[in-house]
Amino acid sequence: MKDTKIFGTTKEELIEAADIIKNGGTVIFPTETVYGLGANAKNDEAVEKIFIAKGRPSDNPLIVHIDDFSKINKYVKKVTPIAKKLADKYWPGPMTIILEKQDSISNLVSAGLKTVGIRIPSNKVALEFLKYCDLPIAAPSANISGSPSPTNSKHVISDMKGRVDGIICGENCDVGVESTVIDCTGEIPVILRPGGITPKMVSEVCGDVIIDKGVDGATDSSKPKSPGMKYKHYAPKAEVTLITGSDLDEIIVKILEVSKNTKGKTVILCSEETKDSFYDFETMCIGSRNKPETIAKNLFNAFRECDEKGFETIILEGIDKEGIGLAVMNRAVRAANK
Ligand code: TXA
Ligand code: MG
Repeated sequence: MKDTKIFGTTKEELIEAADIIKNGGTVIFPTETVYGLGANAKNDEAVEKIFIAKGRPSDNPLIVHIDDFSKINKYVKKVTPIAKKLADKYWPGPMTIILEKQDSISNLVSAGLKTVGIRIPSNKVALEFLKYCDLPIAAPSANISGSPSPTNSKHVISDMKGRVDGIICGENCDVGVESTVIDCTGEIPVILRPGGITPKMVSEVCGDVIIDKGVDGATDSSKPKSPGMKYKHYAPKAEVTLITGSDLDEIIVKILEVSKNTKGKTVILCSEETKDSFYDFETMCIGSRNKPETIAKNLFNAFRECDEKGFETIILEGIDKEGIGLAVMNRAVRAANK
């Protein structure tokens, strides 16, 4: 067990947390997407500690966080035109850009790939902390590998106290799902993982955009472009059954059917629009279907709450894959895919 120091967000505390990073330690910090588990991306030993703390497979590469675009040239070989356009428009923000990496970044970060994912987060505390570190910070989501990403400091403390050197307790995450991962090594951007920056937003800047088939489909391919996508992810302890359908009536009918024959204590994770249709069953409403941003923000927290309340089965209402709905459904499919 490590002696984990808990920090608030004052300047003095952030400087002290940054000192831990400079000395090769691990610090969890808030971002607008999910909390990240950070270490110096140039230091093999420090990066190794991330994989150990999370129990993460070492073939799954990490994202590198920086606070200022001018620093990117130290870590990637070249910023392609599409990368520049996307960075100008959406950084700081929930977007990770994949480019060819320089040797300054540890090979453990990229899991042996020739590329590296870079992100400038928009969360103020994250930016200030990164500035004091003045190093590239490798940081995956700060959950135990496989479980839902943490969207508040309570989640982080419950998963990671005793496993890292420091935890910065900031505000709850605004977006609630991880960043959009975009391969920008070529001429057309390829979305490897959907997130807060939607395909439409990418297309507005770059014209063409490709959505990798791993985003929507199978999770078992042994060599997907974004290695993390092959693992079961984001899952609560409860069994998740995801219900989709061509219209809302069909979804409601299917949910009612499935609810009759479930294992153990069951909850329906549903929307404002459907919550009154399930009066015989326990429900938890996670937002309106017209506001997928709210559902994105609540999803991982709802998974954790279901576990805390001892539910054994979660029936999850599917939503449209419009906007950030694509990211919600990407996480939902993986949570259900045990
Ligand atoms: O919002 C986020 O991105 C959060 C916060 C902390 O910034 N971080 C995060 O990291 O979600 P992580 O490690 O949980 O997910 C990183 C994803 C994985 O699916 C990984 O496979 C992919 O990015 N990835 C990282 N480097 C890559 C690379 N060079 N090529 C392809 N995919 C890469
Ligand atoms: Mg993760």
